[in-house]
Amino acid sequence: MGQDTLFITTAIDYTNSAPHIGHAYEKLLADVITRYQRSAGKKAYFLTGVDQHGQKVQQSAELEGIPAQEFADRNTAKFVEMWKLLGLEYNGWAATTHPQHKAVVQVILQKLFDQDQIYKATHTGYYSVRQEQFLTDKERNEEGEFGSEWGEVEERKEENYYFKLSEHVPWLKAFVADHPDFVYPAFRGKELVNALDKADAIDLCITRPKSRLEWGIEIPFDTGFVTFVWFDALINYISFAGYLKDQVQVATEGLPDFAELWPANAHIIGKDIMIPAHAVYWPIMLHAMGFADEEMPKLLVHGFWNDKGGAKLSKSLGNVIDPAERIERFGADGLRYYLMSAMATGKDADFNDSRIEEAYAHDLAGNLGNLLNRSLNMSKRYRASLLKKDADYDDDLNRELRDSFNKLPAAVAAHMENYQVHFALEEIWKSLTLCNQFVEHSAPWKLAKDEAEANRLDTVLYHLAEAMAQAAFHIAPVMPETSRRILEQLNFEFPADLKATDIKWGILPDGHTLGEGTPLFPRLEPLP
Ligand code: MSP
Repeated sequence: MGQDTLFITTAIDYTNSAPHIGHAYEKLLADVITRYQRSAGKKAYFLTGVDQHGQKVQQSAELEGIPAQEFADRNTAKFVEMWKLLGLEYNGWAATTHPQHKAVVQVILQKLFDQDQIYKATHTGYYSVRQEQFLTDKERNEEGEFGSEWGEVEERKEENYYFKLSEHVPWLKAFVADHPDFVYPAFRGKELVNALDKADAIDLCITRPKSRLEWGIEIPFDTGFVTFVWFDALINYISFAGYLKDQVQVATEGLPDFAELWPANAHIIGKDIMIPAHAVYWPIMLHAMGFADEEMPKLLVHGFWNDKGGAKLSKSLGNVIDPAERIERFGADGLRYYLMSAMATGKDADFNDSRIEEAYAHDLAGNLGNLLNRSLNMSKRYRASLLKKDADYDDDLNRELRDSFNKLPAAVAAHMENYQVHFALEEIWKSLTLCNQFVEHSAPWKLAKDEAEANRLDTVLYHLAEAMAQAAFHIAPVMPETSRRILEQLNFEFPADLKATDIKWGILPDGHTLGEGTPLFPRLEPLP
């Protein structure tokens, strides 16, 4: 495999509703990881998109009395719009009604059918008419009955096609045991091992008769059925990565080269869709298609955002969080900073509006924005914005600041390679806090009054500007726009090929002239 590009994907979002904060976090995590890896000199490809088929979309469209495609397209546009507001830069857009994707799904189904991996069988069971699904014992309540939420429950017989999932479960168990890095974080991997130990291996029903669901990809070997939405959706990770591009040439324009991308370095998903979809169905599907063990993707499983009281976000509770409202108040970078700093990758977090206000005022407007402003203003006032790099002065305060920034690239890299963005930000903000203390302790306003301290003043002003430039570089994956604006105010551009891990003190040249300072994070108006 000639993979030379990191391949980062996210779950594709259901288009039966509008994007919420959970969707936004996940896409952002992918965006930040991709941007960081590029800044570290790697090639990276970021794929995201929308899951447009399935019962929920069909039902919502029916309720509105419009065609499912129209409904899916309209909601897809909301996602596209939101990702633009959030400043996401993805390379590939996986929308599952795309003709190439549909054709690839059908080729895969046909291949598995020809290889005897798919068979037809009749299932008799309890069916909820209201929820339009078969029920299992898991759906029974404490009294052993199907509760009223299921509406009328009747016994039904239905023919469908099944994928021989159970046949491959022993392979999956061995694979997972041999590849502890299949799932990140490790505690989620342990959950998978436990689930595989406990669960009975059963085959996967991969069709729905058209009488019950029409909005899906038709099975190539039986026109009376459409593909179960998960089987369709999981395949996006390869169909939009150029899999079978040479054989299936329905709409290949813009598709990447599969050999360059696969296997995915991180399928970024929420904990709710790890078992069974991503950690059981998906590797087994790939295995059955003939992918080798070394060609299996890796999963990066994140936690859930809850409301500020820890309750699950849900439409029925009315506590869903609209990213657009927060972007309006805090800017895209304000929201990006909060989402990335307030959640430890893998764990749950509570979304709290007073915390985001606090982070904006303290970390962003204060520690970063105010520091930049003071630095630029003092240089302007005392030195007409002209930096002197090699003034003949040094002391412990300067050394401490330089050390702190010189240690940052390795510290940030270590955390970012582990997807621990919040720790990387913490490191950067430690250096910024130190920088704020440095201003107080060095007191340039006093030095400016004393001609004998001229060299020291030059050194301090240079240290501040250099620290700001380096901070701008390090925050760029999380806050690209803020980084750009800081560099604009510093009147400086980093060489395009400078790698994150190669940053060393002394990048701003002697004689550099700084630009004008304007507030990065304006004061927030109190909420009505
Ligand atoms: N369409 C499927 C995924 C198919 S991937 C082949 C799906 N869609 S979803 O819209 O329900 O969820 C999309 C992603 O958002 C999932 O990874 C899910 O875990 C994540 N989140 C949904 N709610 C979330 C939170 N409250 N917090 C964090 N992430 C959450 O599942």
